[in-house]
Amino acid sequence: MLAKVRVQTDRPIGRIDRNLYGHFIEHLGRCIYGGLWAEMLVSRKFEAQDLKEFGVVHPWQSVGRGPGVRFDHDNTTFYTGRQSQRISVHQDDGRPHGVSQGPLALQRDRRYHLRVVARQAGLSGPLRFALEDVDGQPYVEQEVLCPQGDWHVLETDLLCPADDLLGRLSITFRGTGTLWLGAASLMPAETRGGWRADVVEAVRGLRPSFLRWPGGNFASAYHWQDGIGPRDRRPSRIDPAWGALEPNDVGTDEFMALCRDLGTEPYLCVNVGSGTPEEAAAWVEYCNGPADSTYGALRAANGHPEPYRVRYWGVGNEIYGNWQPGHVDAETYARRALEFARAMRAVDPEIVLIGVGAQEYEAPGWNDAVLGIVRDRMDYLSLHHYTPGYAAGELPIDHVPPHEELYPVVMAGPERVEELLRDVGGLIARHGLEERVHIALDEWNVWLFAHYECRLEEPFLLRDGLYVVSVFNALHRNCRLVRMASLAQLVNVLGAIYTTPTGLFLTPVYLANRLIVEHSGTISVETAVESPTFSAPAAVLMPARPQARYVDAMATVSEEGDRLYLSLVNRHRHDPIAVEVEIAGSRVQMQGIGHQLHGPSALSGNSITNPDVVRLDPVEPFLAGNRFTYTLPAHSATVLELSLEP
Ligand code: AHR
Repeated sequence: MLAKVRVQTDRPIGRIDRNLYGHFIEHLGRCIYGGLWAEMLVSRKFEAQDLKEFGVVHPWQSVGRGPGVRFDHDNTTFYTGRQSQRISVHQDDGRPHGVSQGPLALQRDRRYHLRVVARQAGLSGPLRFALEDVDGQPYVEQEVLCPQGDWHVLETDLLCPADDLLGRLSITFRGTGTLWLGAASLMPAETRGGWRADVVEAVRGLRPSFLRWPGGNFASAYHWQDGIGPRDRRPSRIDPAWGALEPNDVGTDEFMALCRDLGTEPYLCVNVGSGTPEEAAAWVEYCNGPADSTYGALRAANGHPEPYRVRYWGVGNEIYGNWQPGHVDAETYARRALEFARAMRAVDPEIVLIGVGAQEYEAPGWNDAVLGIVRDRMDYLSLHHYTPGYAAGELPIDHVPPHEELYPVVMAGPERVEELLRDVGGLIARHGLEERVHIALDEWNVWLFAHYECRLEEPFLLRDGLYVVSVFNALHRNCRLVRMASLAQLVNVLGAIYTTPTGLFLTPVYLANRLIVEHSGTISVETAVESPTFSAPAAVLMPARPQARYVDAMATVSEEGDRLYLSLVNRHRHDPIAVEVEIAGSRVQMQGIGHQLHGPSALSGNSITNPDVVRLDPVEPFLAGNRFTYTLPAHSATVLELSLEP
């Protein structure tokens, strides 16, 4: 098979905003807790119900249950929220009593930092903290005195001498008396301010231009003041968006520390669902106000006198959808968005606002109505797209679509994405706003199986990496219109990165991001493609595409004009395709280099045990010049790099 690509270096389309390389994390599934955040304990503020053992907060377990011992979730004496774990021993049976939690993945020679907030009455000896095996045999233990009376924060480091994926933490005492546990935390000692060092390093590899947080749907019921101040004191809340218990360990200050560490811009999405303009404005002041303003002073009191200077603020998330806490009609949203904008800009006139837009297939007429009222008082219109899309409540949950059906649908997806973007671009222009309002595609990805039994953890394959490269090609082509974009999401949930308690692996979606982020110029230039085509059936929210191109191509040029990056995707599942490349507008040097995303099959993926099945590798240097033929392996994405003569 043969395709033709013609690049015109002298016909620039526009400057590529680095904000096309943004990312998104949400309080959802294992994205933050169990992924990025290093806390190892669940229900660490003893906030959950006693699901399995009467009086013992789940998933903690009793140690030394017996006739003279009582376990209670105490709702009168507590450190935070409205509950603590109480253990009262009236009759000494000579055994230790307390609670334990596991399985915890313990690693040999790793130091763990334990913090326990406890109070006691009548204890005759110390508390004993131990990392142990499933039978309660200690690997390492420590005795710590807890004075009588009020709550005490007890901290210690435990060096574990063994590997044990089924390890446990126990907190016990001997003799009679009463112990209350208000909070506990166990983390590896060498985190980056509570964030998992290995995951942060993997994220750094993607050079995210911004990080969007805290949601997603989660944002529509999030009250930011729950997430500031001393971490052990923060309340746990039921998150109505996803029905999960939110411990509020990660809040504004932790998120800012992560952004600082990564050198990325924070993008905060405010709560338009159950929140108010005043609450959003207070958040702006907490982040950006001087240390002598009301909320700036609160930030300073929390240890951060310097303003964070958060520039990007989303005014709501998918507030058109019936899955969204507080969803409303377009006109109501538009009027509310103006109130939010007024209140937030009164605190900081420099902030950039991203308003809620919608795909026509999800909320017909939404964008037209919102743009008509909001006009340019929002700088961006947010769009989300997942291929093939999801229709809440309408999915045939009992029919998991086979890969044969899905492959062409995913491969044709980026063409649909481009059409959708251009349609909205046309609408923005009809409102006369093309110079002032741009698109933020701030959630996009493949979403195929995440509805089923995988807790939103999409098993990404090379196919999905090819999709990602093609979407970037589309974003580069439409860079005048789309000025922000963030892949959804970064870790575990629809994750570019997947973690286990002790390691991680990088998916083809991650590698595709790296390919583009590391090998793209800053100016996109006209690129024409002639390619054999395939037919993709309709699926979920995607219409059929009878003539999708096997080969997708897009070229970008470096700022100095001396490098050309030609991104080429061969979406054919089985066949290589030879591409005749012609470059006009500059003289091209003879030697070309490049990088390629590839794997044994389009349906290959990486895993913790086989992390390098799908790989990103340099290609053999090749003979280039202004005209050359380059053969793309089946199911591959390649960026060729060529030197341009001045
Ligand atoms: O990314 C997962 C969810 O998808 C987000 O919370 C929401 O905005 C979208 O519907």
